Amino acid sequence: MAKNKTRFYCKGCGHEELRWLGQCPGCGEWNSFVEKNLAADTGKKGSRGFKSETRQSGPVGFAAKTAAAWPEAMGPDGKLRPVALSQISSAETNRLKVEPAEVARVLGGGLVEGSVVLLGGEPGVGKSTLLTGLGLWWVRQGIRVLYVAGEESPAQIRMRAERLGFDPNKEEGFHILPEVHLETLLDTLHDDFAAHPDTKTIIVADSIQTLHSEHIDTYPGSPTQIKYCGGVLADFARRTACPVFLVGHVTKSGDLAGPKLLEHMVDTVLYFEGSGGGPIRMVRAVKNRFGTTGELAVMEMRADGLFPVDQAGVLFLSGRGGKEPGSAVCAVKNGSRTFLVEVQALVSPSRYGTPQRVVQGVDNKRVALLAAILEKRAGLDLGGCDVFVKVAGGGRMEDPGADLAIMAALASSLREKPIPMDTLVLGEVGLTGEVRRVADMESRLREAGRHGFRRVIMADPDPGRGGPLKHDKNLQLITVTSVQEAVALAVHPGAFDPSH
Ligand code: TYD
Ligand code: MG
Repeated sequence: MAKNKTRFYCKGCGHEELRWLGQCPGCGEWNSFVEKNLAADTGKKGSRGFKSETRQSGPVGFAAKTAAAWPEAMGPDGKLRPVALSQISSAETNRLKVEPAEVARVLGGGLVEGSVVLLGGEPGVGKSTLLTGLGLWWVRQGIRVLYVAGEESPAQIRMRAERLGFDPNKEEGFHILPEVHLETLLDTLHDDFAAHPDTKTIIVADSIQTLHSEHIDTYPGSPTQIKYCGGVLADFARRTACPVFLVGHVTKSGDLAGPKLLEHMVDTVLYFEGSGGGPIRMVRAVKNRFGTTGELAVMEMRADGLFPVDQAGVLFLSGRGGKEPGSAVCAVKNGSRTFLVEVQALVSPSRYGTPQRVVQGVDNKRVALLAAILEKRAGLDLGGCDVFVKVAGGGRMEDPGADLAIMAALASSLREKPIPMDTLVLGEVGLTGEVRRVADMESRLREAGRHGFRRVIMADPDPGRGGPLKHDKNLQLITVTSVQEAVALAVHPGAFDPSH
């Protein structure tokens, strides 16, 4: 006799169990388990809400889009069939142009057709502004944009478009769809595709948290809904070659749960961040199947929209005078871009019991490690001191090439000796205190030369290999092998040998 297959799952997080539990081991919620009959469910989910029709004249709606995107895969019956690798055309050729170039770069050079991009960020950071601006630009290139608006009224979106400098009466290709019910949305898209079979379309779902499917019993915005709706839309994008943007809110408390669930399903994950409450916004690619990760777009939020920042290379320098101890500048890479970043440190004797370690913009453990190396290898006594480290301008640093600058800033603050403002400190530091060279030295030196730096304290760029390093003639390269040497040079400017 066939068993009646039932499962219990949590209404909050979707965690599944074979039996009922009082508290969910997944999210800790009490009384959240409900019973679900799997046998009754499968038929319902099987279709995933897709409508693929074939009429006498050929496939329509989604099937027509699939047929156009993937002619080699579409059988005469309107069903997909396996295709040999050699028969598949390269996606590289199908990149849609993106403007501004800042955003194009984080997307890997353009928007790949059929790709799914998740844009995560805190509420109010500017996600809708960015996508409305991009959408209106695409519309001018002859692409249809369907903006699925679950958060705002169509009138609000029209106002935003006006604010961005567009005349809504002229932008015919920009369409707003105030629909949050996934199945109805798919129906509408289906009919829209049937009515415009030959127009390229881009879908923006703002936001994924507002969508809900009737096949899932939980509330909109719950992890199960987000996962299901995201999955259906990702599937939709691939089948129809229509790019889909999913907007995902990340709360201020750092709750990434919702959008994080989608990361593995989508092709590109962009995080939109503000910096220190100011107008600067950064879009970071944390995953990209069609480009490099770590790419960063720097923009400014003005009254009339988001604009690329011209002087982004020096955004993370405070207006320092070079007289205060505890500040060191290094050049770090973020994807293909180089930024000059100022590290600030404050080291002072601890007055209240356990010394504090407060760090902003750099990993805590990394600072602890570098402080330990400073103590052991350069003889600096940080043990009884409070240590504060911060990256100017609200930046974040992961590049190991900033190790030496962090240490120089710490030493400079402890010794109360400023590092001259025209000196760049660059190098990765090992546990034994040796200074190692960093990747892509030339672009870092170029950026330093361009902004008036005169000296660089760094590891031997390429011992015994390759030709001399190309750099600005005004830039004096001072090579060091150990932290001790580097720190001594940085905080005792008199030690510079002009003939070096
Ligand atoms: P929004 O795109 O609505 O943020 P999100 O979709 O991420 O929640 O942007 C919200 C903020 O941006 C809001 O405080 C107003 C501001 N803003 C500008 O400063 N300039 C503009 O041109 C626009 C459209 C918005
Ligand atoms: Mg929004």
